[in-house]
Amino acid sequence: MTKLLMETEKRIPTHVSIIMDGNGRWAKERGMERTKGHIAGVESVRACTIAAIEEGVKYLSFFAFSEENWGRPEGEVNSLMKLMFESMQKEFEMFVREGVRFVVIGDRERLGSTMCGVIDNVMEATKNNDRLTFILFISYSGKWDIHQAARKMAADMAAHPEKEISEADFGNYLATAGIPDPDLLIRTSGEKRISNYMLWQLAYTELLSTPVLWPDFGKEDFKAALDEYAKRDRRYGKVK
Ligand code: FPP
Repeated sequence: MTKLLMETEKRIPTHVSIIMDGNGRWAKERGMERTKGHIAGVESVRACTIAAIEEGVKYLSFFAFSEENWGRPEGEVNSLMKLMFESMQKEFEMFVREGVRFVVIGDRERLGSTMCGVIDNVMEATKNNDRLTFILFISYSGKWDIHQAARKMAADMAAHPEKEISEADFGNYLATAGIPDPDLLIRTSGEKRISNYMLWQLAYTELLSTPVLWPDFGKEDFKAALDEYAKRDRRYGKVK
């Protein structure tokens, strides 16, 4: 009976990650400034968070701001930073109420002390929550992560030359240490690129590209992505 039940249960990914794309196009289609697309995109983040809790996903991560995004016009960078800063404060109560652990991953050196202050406060206040871990990648790139990990590993090896470092140990130097690799990566707006995201961690992740623009991506789209994931046959390079 238990076996039969297990076989018919939907396979839920432990970690779902999302590259939010299409905010600018969504705004343009409506004759609005790009910033309005990002503001609308925050609603999609909220909808996916609620859907992830309902479906029993344990880790939900978002590529909110890449290293490359620093190269966007100053006005857009500033409004994105302001939006993230305000959203963290606004969603803080929801994280506490819903038992969500909040984590930010990225290059802190470029973020400034006010932003880092609010990040630290929310991370500290939610660190013991375990219903869902909500991760924002801010000022992050996959190459930056591998580079900083390699530097830390080299320093460690210089101090302890006898130490053997396995492939699994290398993962502990990455900024994502302790977080399971994504099972499913969703990218919206029809794009099919990794765009310097978690290059190491995505090795065996199932990829899903949807034409829906990020501000239009809601709860039902998230659940449909989980249904699609449940149908995938994950072989990890082996034969079944
Ligand atoms: C990509 O669309 C989207 C971004 C670069 C930013 C997404 C960030 C948010 C929605 C903020 C979320 C923050 C919190 C704290 C919840 P694009 O601008 O590349 O769109 P385009 O490809 O149509 O130009």
